Amino acid sequence: MTHYPDTSVFFRKLRWDYPRITHGKGTWLYDDRGEAYLDACGGAFVSNLGHGVAEIGDAMAAQARRLAYVSGMILTTDAVETFAAELARLAPGDLDKVYPLSSGSDAVEAALKLARQYWAELGKPRKHRIVALSPSYHGNTLLALSASAREHYKAMYKGWLVDVIRVPAYDADALRTTIQREGPDSIAAFIAEPVGGSSTGALIPPAGYFRRVRELCDEFGILFIADEILCGAGRTGTWSALEPDAVVPDLQVLGKGIAGGFAPLAAVLAPTRIVDVFANGSGALNHAQTFSHHAVSCAAGTATLRYLEAHRLVERAATMGRALHAKLDRLRALPHVGAIRGRGLLAGIELCDDPAARTPFPRSLHFAEALTRAALDARLIVWPNVGHMNGTDGDLVMLAPPFVVSEDELDQIVERLAVAIRQTVQQLSVST
Ligand SMILES: Cc1ncc(COP(=O)(O)O)c(C=O)c1O
Repeated sequence: MTHYPDTSVFFRKLRWDYPRITHGKGTWLYDDRGEAYLDACGGAFVSNLGHGVAEIGDAMAAQARRLAYVSGMILTTDAVETFAAELARLAPGDLDKVYPLSSGSDAVEAALKLARQYWAELGKPRKHRIVALSPSYHGNTLLALSASAREHYKAMYKGWLVDVIRVPAYDADALRTTIQREGPDSIAAFIAEPVGGSSTGALIPPAGYFRRVRELCDEFGILFIADEILCGAGRTGTWSALEPDAVVPDLQVLGKGIAGGFAPLAAVLAPTRIVDVFANGSGALNHAQTFSHHAVSCAAGTATLRYLEAHRLVERAATMGRALHAKLDRLRALPHVGAIRGRGLLAGIELCDDPAARTPFPRSLHFAEALTRAALDARLIVWPNVGHMNGTDGDLVMLAPPFVVSEDELDQIVERLAVAIRQTVQQLSVST
């Protein structure tokens, strides 16, 4: 175990014992003491292929040996061209142009700026405001954070964040009323997660919601940005999480799993009809980053996309997802387990003081954090989240295992999670 300050690393958590992971294989991670951990969340919803896939490493090494990096400002490479073509082939509808970046926050920033510039290029600079859901999460850089409804992340930066119009998640009537009240002439874009991420505990929109969103955005001339950074790339059992709704957004942002964690990679996808507005106007997107269009990251992306297809892993995410949700039903009998939600290999499990009344634990109890530690002690890695109920309270854990997870591993995930929940309830002396 490594902890601050006995290390040169400035860790995110400065009061946490960090197991030192030496290698991984499939759904398993191993530390320097030889302990094996079941990775039930692919890190931060990233390791979709599982760990230790040699072909992805080989593809990256081959690219790095040939050419690691040139600036995407004035040069292109086979690696970038191939990745963009492969991703465009998988994308829904007319989303055929790809702007590769490094992180999800980068991609959300770029998409929101792109939307604003799009309207400015069309002579409508007043259309600059953003509409976003509550709850939601779109990233941690300041524009992406502004779009996120994560009060405890934002409180420190009041005055630095831009004003974003907020609507309740997955309520189409509220969206219509809000657009009319605020005035569509002032709105550039509506951004939403097609399936809620960790800030919502994998909230699923009601059937028909995104079709209404599409209609409203068309009616009022607003760009619809689908943030599929967490729920896309097969995580919910289809390549795009909007596929079951048969809806195509104006812009799509992907990240996390698109290079399986082998390289930091994210992307903004846009149709030619939107990119042409830039081509025929100012001639450039007013957003540049050193590591956009990165050759090795794109090689990792291409190898990942090909591996997913060759091993039919998105179909597997759908099948194993159904198995996961059936097995998770067993947890409902445990004390303090509230809603269990999700789709495909994405699940959110809410822990409440009183699940029937959906009363959250007091934040001072730090239930989700204690549960994460108890899970780690049971050699299970889960993703905790707090604050989804009201910005402060609300404890949940998320599961998002690699798509290669087996039925037996799913059973072990559920068993270990049950042990960790019982252990946490006992340790925190909350009544059962
Ligand atoms: C839906 C969604 N959008 C954006 C982001 C930001 O991505 P990143 O952490 O790679 O910057 C995340 C990260 O959790 C996310 O879940």
